[in-house]
Amino acid sequence: MTLAQEKTKENEKNISSADPSSTGISHPLEPLTPDEITAAVAIVKAQKSLAASVRFNTVTLKEPPKQTVLSFTPGDRIDREAFIILLDNATAKTYEAVVSLTQRQVKSWLHIPNVQPAIMLDEFIECEQAVKANLDFQAAIAKRGITDPDLVMVDPWSAGNYGIEEEAGLRLSRALCWVRANPTDHGYARPIEGVIPVVDLNKMEVIRVEDYGVIPLPPKDGNYTPEYIKHYRTDIKPLEIVQPEGPSFEVNDHEIRWQKWKIRIGFTPREGLVLYDVTYRDGDSERPIFYRASLAEMTVPYGDPQPHHYRKNAFDVGEYGIGSLANSLTLGCDCLGEIYYFDGFITNSRGEVAKIENAICLHEEDFGILWKHMDWRTEQTEVRRSRRLVISFIATVGNYEYGFYWYFYQDGTIQYEVKLTGVLSTAAVPPGEMPKYGTLVAPQLCAPIHQHIFNVRIDMAIDGTNNSVYEVDIVPEDDHQNPYGNAFYAKSTLLPTEKAAQRRIDPMKSRYWKIVNPSKTNEMGYPTAYKLMPGENTLPMATPNASVIHRAKYMSQHLWVTPYSADENFPAGNYPNQHPGGDGLPQWTQADRPIEDTDIVVWYTFAHSHSPRAEDWPVMPVATLGFKLKPLNFFNENPANDVPPSPKNHGSKKACCTLKS
Ligand code: NI
Repeated sequence: MTLAQEKTKENEKNISSADPSSTGISHPLEPLTPDEITAAVAIVKAQKSLAASVRFNTVTLKEPPKQTVLSFTPGDRIDREAFIILLDNATAKTYEAVVSLTQRQVKSWLHIPNVQPAIMLDEFIECEQAVKANLDFQAAIAKRGITDPDLVMVDPWSAGNYGIEEEAGLRLSRALCWVRANPTDHGYARPIEGVIPVVDLNKMEVIRVEDYGVIPLPPKDGNYTPEYIKHYRTDIKPLEIVQPEGPSFEVNDHEIRWQKWKIRIGFTPREGLVLYDVTYRDGDSERPIFYRASLAEMTVPYGDPQPHHYRKNAFDVGEYGIGSLANSLTLGCDCLGEIYYFDGFITNSRGEVAKIENAICLHEEDFGILWKHMDWRTEQTEVRRSRRLVISFIATVGNYEYGFYWYFYQDGTIQYEVKLTGVLSTAAVPPGEMPKYGTLVAPQLCAPIHQHIFNVRIDMAIDGTNNSVYEVDIVPEDDHQNPYGNAFYAKSTLLPTEKAAQRRIDPMKSRYWKIVNPSKTNEMGYPTAYKLMPGENTLPMATPNASVIHRAKYMSQHLWVTPYSADENFPAGNYPNQHPGGDGLPQWTQADRPIEDTDIVVWYTFAHSHSPRAEDWPVMPVATLGFKLKPLNFFNENPANDVPPSPKNHGSKKACCTLKS
């Protein structure tokens, strides 16, 4: 038997061994199981006679139509489909396939011209090997006194798109390189400045090594791991989180119930954690808040204009796949208390299942006080502890770590928080130079200034599918109606179309946006609503002519609202890698479609400008940013009135909070 015949036989075995109707899938939005992924890959390989040069970029659940999901009841037949993105290295062609797992056949097969799928994890490794083996690269590092390529770290940064003719159609990485002093040394302390190997990832060949001149390696180590830290502080006593009766949540496959919340989760290589069909139980009804939410894109533009730095910007969702970079989390370190972990299943570029064990963490946290009042006449004090449900994952993108946290509170509030940590991207500068576009974090070691810009897509469903969005500003009353000068009020303005809904924050007006159901009211007659409350935010610093602005136009507005469309999921388009720009939100919203009292999607952009500090080196303490969704006349009163008092002296042997009058 030839190798090809063996492969075909193996594929046939895989096809026949996975019968989704017998795999006990409990819900149409359950992520693909390892067996389903294996079967989908085998089906497409066999039915499309794929060559060995074809890589599997993404194998994920093709989500059924929203109406199918919303009308699903347990026991209904579930048709399972996989969505697959493939790249043929030999022909440089990208394909999208939909495979029916139920019918065991390729349902659609489409060539997508002129795009580059995200850079795959296997390509990271192969690119590093190709660079290290290249003679021009070895000569460039030898000029800098580096003789052992094994100590070199090659990070395959995306190339962007700068309209350069000889780059058109090539699948490129412009790699950045560092060198360790020994195998466990912190490599980012020593950038190999000015050397950019440019790699054709289809051929996995270095096509040129750009050299912008020798700058010496910075002199100082930057180590932070236990083998280097000689003295730890010794005055920390144990702090333990104890839940003697276990957690208060229930998990059924990927559905989570916690107090009045019901949340379904998924996991994709591109977005990581996805939330579906989030509802809050109010009396006898499960009231929907949103249908789907995920981190839809993020962009990290750097501010150094030097020839070897100006192309640094990364789209960590669309160019790398933030989910495929998820960590396996560790109890007691990443997460504290009674933890439930979900595994994530992705593939390597050959279509083999790769398991990310403990990819998603679920737990409860004490969060200070929820509410309190002391009636000083009756001397009755009522106070309630706040508890929140946390669903999170952490991804490592080369040097940087991002933690993505969804919080659910007892008063109906939902919060999204990004935790930024890990290691700064670094550059070397000549001795004595104080850089303008960055900060010295060690002698001759510069951390360039940059921004982290995120976009979260939320398919809203306040009390049902049809919603409208209003901008609310807190403003002073007009002079002619304001005789005492004290009057001010919350001014609501309907955003009726897509263009009208391209908005920016205004902290001086306490601006927020409310998503209302115009057909439902609370007891006082207000339409039921949630408000989107901005946290830290800013705008991109790149000017309108910058390449990164064209490619990530979503960054230029904080709020976008679109009518729901099943194929509009990514604000910078489906294939931002090396894309010239214009795809996604800027393209769809040109039609200026109506968004009033219809099925809408809210896209919120939030940004952090990072001017590095010495204290961010050698590893950066967590910085946070995000936003909140808060109920706004959604309920008739504080929904957390029924949270019971905590047991007296709970959690401590000593009474710590006795009040003396
Ligand atoms: Ni940063």
